[in-house]
Amino acid sequence: MNNKEFYIKKISADDTRHLRQIILRPHQTANELVYPGDDDSDSVHFGLYFENKLCGIASVYRQSPAGENSTASWRLRGMATTEETRGMGFGKELMKECLNFVRSKNGEKFWCTARTTAEGFYELFGLKRHGDVFTPEGLGEHVIMSIKL
Ligand SMILES: CC(C)(COP(=O)(O)OP(=O)(O)OC[C@H]1O[C@@H](n2cnc3c(N)ncnc32)[C@H](O)[C@@H]1OP(=O)(O)O)[C@@H](O)C(=O)NCCC(=O)NCCS
Repeated sequence: MNNKEFYIKKISADDTRHLRQIILRPHQTANELVYPGDDDSDSVHFGLYFENKLCGIASVYRQSPAGENSTASWRLRGMATTEETRGMGFGKELMKECLNFVRSKNGEKFWCTARTTAEGFYELFGLKRHGDVFTPEGLGEHVIMSIKL
């Protein structure tokens, strides 16, 4: 970070929905942006605040990839920083927070369904692509990425 004052704190699922909507799914309403497990007791939502404004979000769920069944797998969803703050290192700080959280829970796998446009970002944290590219309706190309912890 270049001296930029920011902080990260846990927020409610509800607090993520505005940024989820404007950054990730502008074709949906904020009310539609309830992801399965959002309010599970194991789920956590992080918000990054800069100049007292929510500028970044990331959520983590205890969930396995399809076809696997492990309570030690954790899924990242809804990772986003506001356009105005991109490139300031906030995405990296949120990823570090998520990975630290999962490690603190003795998580063994950290994975996400990544937009191919963000693949290079996740690679910086050691996540690797698994399987083929697929395209959920209206959301662009995605790929499963994961890392063993
Ligand atoms: C992907 C995203 C979260 C990255 O956040 P950010 O705040 O721009 O990231 P940072 O400023 O912390 O960048 C950290 C590093 O990642 C790199 N990076 C950022 N976005 C990248 C991308 N899309 N592809 C490859 N590298 C990327 C930066 O160059 C930087 O590299 P460096 O440390 O070598 O300088 C942000 O661009 C975003 O919200 N994009 C739109 C929503 C989205 O696609 N989310 C992911 C859904 S799967």
